[in-house]
Amino acid sequence: YVAGDSLYTEGITHWANGSGTQVSQCVVEPVNSKDVATILRFLGSTRTPFAVKGAGHHANPGFSSTTGVHISMRQFNEITYNEAAQTVRVGAGLLWDDIYAKLAPHNVSVVGARALGVGVPGFLLGGGYSWLGNQYGLALDNVMSYELVQPTGKIVEVTQASQPDLFFALKGGGNNFGIVTKFTLKTYPQGPVWGGLIMIDGSHIPEVADAVTDFSLNIDDPKAGMDTLYINVNGSVVVTQLVFYDGPAPPPGIFEAILAIPSFVKDVQTRSFLSFMASGGPFPVDQRTLFHSVSMLQFSPTISEVIRNETVFWGEFLKDKSASVVSYAIEPFHPGIYAHNTTATAFPADRSIPFYPYIIWFCWKDPAMDDVFYDAARQSAEVIADAAIAEGQTAVAYTPMYINPSLIGTPLERLYGKNIPRLRKIKAKVDPQNVMGLAGGFKL
Ligand SMILES: Cc1cc2nc3c(=O)[nH]c(=O)nc-3n(C[C@H](O)[C@H](O)[C@H](O)COP(=O)(O)OP(=O)(O)OC[C@H]3O[C@@H](n4cnc5c(N)ncnc54)[C@H](O)[C@@H]3O)c2cc1C
Ligand SMILES: *[C@@H]1O[C@H](CO)[C@@H](O)[C@H](O)[C@H]1NC(C)=O
Ligand SMILES: *[C@@H]1O[C@H](CO)[C@@H](O)[C@H](O)[C@H]1NC(C)=O
Ligand SMILES: *[C@@H]1O[C@H](CO)[C@@H](O)[C@H](O)[C@H]1NC(C)=O
Ligand SMILES: *[C@@H]1O[C@H](CO)[C@@H](O)[C@H](O)[C@H]1NC(C)=O
Ligand SMILES: *[C@@H]1O[C@H](CO)[C@@H](O)[C@H](O)[C@H]1NC(C)=O
Repeated sequence: YVAGDSLYTEGITHWANGSGTQVSQCVVEPVNSKDVATILRFLGSTRTPFAVKGAGHHANPGFSSTTGVHISMRQFNEITYNEAAQTVRVGAGLLWDDIYAKLAPHNVSVVGARALGVGVPGFLLGGGYSWLGNQYGLALDNVMSYELVQPTGKIVEVTQASQPDLFFALKGGGNNFGIVTKFTLKTYPQGPVWGGLIMIDGSHIPEVADAVTDFSLNIDDPKAGMDTLYINVNGSVVVTQLVFYDGPAPPPGIFEAILAIPSFVKDVQTRSFLSFMASGGPFPVDQRTLFHSVSMLQFSPTISEVIRNETVFWGEFLKDKSASVVSYAIEPFHPGIYAHNTTATAFPADRSIPFYPYIIWFCWKDPAMDDVFYDAARQSAEVIADAAIAEGQTAVAYTPMYINPSLIGTPLERLYGKNIPRLRKIKAKVDPQNVMGLAGGFKL
C-alpha cells in the first residue's frame, strides 16, 4: 500500500502519532509466515530500512516506524483457545483487547496489558506488567512458544525444548532476533473483578502517599493491585488512581484508606475484566510523546513529595514550551512478581531485586522542543532515583530498566545488564548479517 490508501495510513499510524509515526515508502502486508520470510530476505539483501509494528505503543521515534518499508502484521489475527491445554495461540497483529474479549465467554484470561489498545507483540517481547502479574508473573513468563521468522528467512517454532537460547532471547530481547508471527500463551480462570478509576485533587497527595505506601509495604494478597498517576493539569496536580482486585470484592484491610480520601471521580465496582480494562486511560495522543522510566524499590511519603514536586516543577517549566501532559505513574507490584519464571529470561537481568518501573509521561506539540523534553525527562528520572538512593534504596543505581517505556538513548547495560554477552552471542548466530539492525529499537 502507498500513501493515499487507507491501509497505508492504518499501517504507519501510532498511538502517540505525533512522534511515533514516520512517513514510509510503502506498507507491506504479509498474510503468512512464508510471506514474512520472503520480505525479510528481500529487505536484508537490499539493505532496506524497515519497521515492524504491533499497535505502535512504543513512543520512541523509529522503534516501530521507518522512512523505508513498513511491515503491517494486521493479517496475523488468529485467536485459538485450547481448553484442554489451557493455552491460547494468538497472532502478532492483535491488541490485548481482542484476546480478552475472545476469551471472556470461556471464563479465562491471559497476562496482558493494563489498559486497552496496547499491541500484543511489543508488550510480550519487552516484558509485560499486567494486573494479573502478581499472581502469574510478567507476560513474557507466560509465553509457552513463539513462531519466529528468523532474519535469514528460516521459520522456527521456539520453545524451551526446541531452541533454549532463542526462547531465552525472545523473553525481553525485543525485535533483535527476527519477526514473531504467533505466540502461545498460558490462560487462567477469570471471573468478575472489582475496581476502577478514582480521581483525587492534588491537595490530598499526603493522604494518597500514606495509603499507597501502606499498600505497597503490605501487599501479601497477589490478587490486589494499584496504579497511581500524578498529572499536572493546568498548573495543579491531580491524582488518577486505579484500584484492582481479582475477585468480585476485596477482603477488608486493603483498599479502605485510598477509598476514604475525598475524590471527584469514583467509578469503583464489581465488573467484568474487560469493563475494568476500559475504566482507565490513557488515551491516544496526536502529539509528540515520550515515556521514560525509573526502576524503584519502595514508595514512601518522601518519594511521593519528590514526585509531586517534579510534577509541579516540570509542568511549570515546560508550560510555555508547548507541553500538554506532564505526569508520573507509581506502580507498586507484589515482591513475588519475578518468582514465576520457569526458565531464565533476557529481561529482567536480575530477578532478585524487587524493582518496579515508575513511568514518566510527557506530551508536547512543538517539534523544535524535542530535546528540551528529552533532557527534562532524563533529569527528572535522575532526581527521583537520587531521592530513592538517599533514602537507602541503593540498588536503584543499578536496577534493570524496563525496555518498553525507556527513553531512546538509555544505555543497553541498564536494560540487559549481565545478559548482554549471551544475547550478543545468540544474535550473531541467528542474524549474522544484522538484518534486524535495519529496524529501529534498542539494538544488541
Ligand atoms: C496506553 C499505554 C498503556 C500501556 N500499558 C502497559 C502495561 O499495562 N504494562 C506494560 O508492561 N506496558 C504497558 N505499556 C508499554 C507497552 O508495553 C509498550 O508500548 C509496547 O511496546 C507495546 O507493544 P506494541 O506492539 O503496541 O508496540 P510497537 O510500538 O508496535 O512495537 C514495539 C517494539 O516491538 C517490535 N515489534 C513489534 N511487533 C513485532 C513482531 N511481530 N516481531 C518482532 N518485533 C516486533 C517493534 O519493532 C518495536 O521495536 C503501555 C503503553 C501505552 C502507550
Ligand atoms: C498519523 O500520522 C500520519 C503521518 O503524519 C498521518 O497520515 C495519519 O493520518 C495520522 N493518524 C491519526 C489518527 O492522526
Ligand atoms: C462462565 O461463568 C458464568 C458465570 O459464572 C457461567 O454462567 C457460564 O456458564 C460460564 N461459562 C463457561 C464456558 O464455563
Ligand atoms: C486548561 O486551560 C485551558 C485554557 O484556559 C482550557 O481550555 C482547558 O480546558 C484546561 N484544561 C483542563 C483539563 O482543565
Ligand atoms: C523541586 O524540583 C526541582 C527540580 O528537580 C528542584 O530544583 C527543587 O529544588 C525542588 N524543590 C523542592 C522543595 O524540593
Ligand atoms: C528464573 O530466572 C532466574 C534469573 O534469570 C534464574 O536464575 C532461575 O533459574 C530462573 N528460574 C527457573 C525455574 O528457571
